[in-house]
Amino acid sequence: MADSQNGRKQSSGELLSFAERGETGQNPQQERRKSIRPESAWKLLIVDDEEEVHLLTRMVLKNYEFEDRGLTMLSAYSGAGARRILAENPDIAIILLDVVMEREDSGLRLVRHIRDELENRDIRIILRTGQPGQAPENKVVNEYDINDYKAKTELTAQKLFTTITSALRSWRDIQIMATRNQGLQKIIKSGAHLFEWHSRSEFASGVLKQLVLLANGDFSIENKDLYSGIFARLKDNCFQIEYGTGSFKTMVGRQLADVVPGTTQAMVIRAGRQGHGFFFNHSYVYCIKADNDDEILFLLKGNPISPELDKDLIRIYMTNATMAFHNVNLSLEIIETQKEIIHTLGEVVETRSKETANHVLRVGKMAQLLAEKYGMETDEAAILRLAAPMHDVGKVGIPDAILNKPGGLTEAEYKIMQTHTTTGWEILGKSERRIMRSAAVVAHQHHEKWDGTGYPHGLVGSKIHIFGRITALVDVFDAVINKRIYREAKELGEVVQLLKQGRGTHFDPELVDIFLANLTEFVGIVRANPDEQPPSDNTLSGSSPAEAMKEERG
Ligand SMILES: [Fe+2]
Ligand SMILES: [Fe+2]
Repeated sequence: MADSQNGRKQSSGELLSFAERGETGQNPQQERRKSIRPESAWKLLIVDDEEEVHLLTRMVLKNYEFEDRGLTMLSAYSGAGARRILAENPDIAIILLDVVMEREDSGLRLVRHIRDELENRDIRIILRTGQPGQAPENKVVNEYDINDYKAKTELTAQKLFTTITSALRSWRDIQIMATRNQGLQKIIKSGAHLFEWHSRSEFASGVLKQLVLLANGDFSIENKDLYSGIFARLKDNCFQIEYGTGSFKTMVGRQLADVVPGTTQAMVIRAGRQGHGFFFNHSYVYCIKADNDDEILFLLKGNPISPELDKDLIRIYMTNATMAFHNVNLSLEIIETQKEIIHTLGEVVETRSKETANHVLRVGKMAQLLAEKYGMETDEAAILRLAAPMHDVGKVGIPDAILNKPGGLTEAEYKIMQTHTTTGWEILGKSERRIMRSAAVVAHQHHEKWDGTGYPHGLVGSKIHIFGRITALVDVFDAVINKRIYREAKELGEVVQLLKQGRGTHFDPELVDIFLANLTEFVGIVRANPDEQPPSDNTLSGSSPAEAMKEERG
């Protein structure tokens, strides 16, 4: 122990002598360092059981700075003390570590603790030993994950500077790599979300938020909220702002020209249309153009975006976003196509059965409302809105003579009429698409009754799909109320009476209760979408509510 003490003292003396001679490599104009904020300083941990080593190291490195950041020096006098400080300061960049302290191998044990238990592979460990015999360099470097090995005798003030600087440089690079990894992981994670959006606007605002987050970065210290962003969509040759963050929040609805002056605008758009977007001054611009000529533009404004790391991450993210945008467009295209098909089919049915166009429209809206009141998920209820108007699509297979026969139907004709449910199922059920499949269920089951006396299968109670139960109720309601919509309020009372009679026999009792509890809203839908002229020569024409209901049942 005596030798090692000597060794340390010897090295301390050496450090001191260099410090005294001013060989610290210091820039004499050290005053500006005062402006360096302590929170941005690099952290250095000095671990040594000898106070003098601490004092000298602090003295030599007092005015040290690297990349405009100073040093915060922490001191530990034993392996145990170092562990405590390390636990509280996971962002320590360098540790200047003595080997022999409370034990012969305290320093080496600490190395194991850092690398294996704390799993800290980033911190740069510089072993400073006063007695190389105690920890031979070859053996130590081979067996312990340290980054530098110095005998105290060789660590002069100048050498200490060089060693610290190169260690900081490599720690900084490790942090950049780690940040890049985090950034990439973030991009991968948000990439999954990119494919979940249901509308272009939802998608674009999601991308913009992510973009601002990337630019604001968790990359550099105190670099939060430095960027504002907008997303604009091309309308009549002008980009109109649809979403904004930060200082652009209030710009929604305005033109891009309000943010970027006219002369610069053309340049910005041209640059944005280049494949990888464009960084300029304090901004970034990126355009995505869809096959259908839909074009959106993202603009980010704030501080200069640097370093290259952030730019790379933004580029990678936007490449992902572009793919996702095309995907969203494709999905929307499919949905639009389904809607169009359904609309067209609905029209065919209307024409054939001489129902009014607004009947199917109202049935769709009321079915959606009832579904929502029933507690169905919003998107499920929206599907029902599209599917419910298809309930009678199978009537395309019913001969005109029966479909539009004035007066009652014979038993045989009634049987044929009933086949519109299975025909509808057969027409729509072939599709794999969600809306079509839902429409198939509605077409098949809208004449089933709660008590099992309906058709085609006589399903009972909750065996009938909820889409079928809802459509059955609103379809009958609409058929009946529209016969009476311009008459006295007591006619509505009569309709209510009919629904109550059907509660638990024809209709799901719970749905009847919900419907009646919200009657005003349903009547509101009927009033907002009136028939242009009362249907004539209709299968329902001239029916009393009871007859109309019977007709709807059959
Ligand atoms: Fe029907
Ligand atoms: Fe109907």
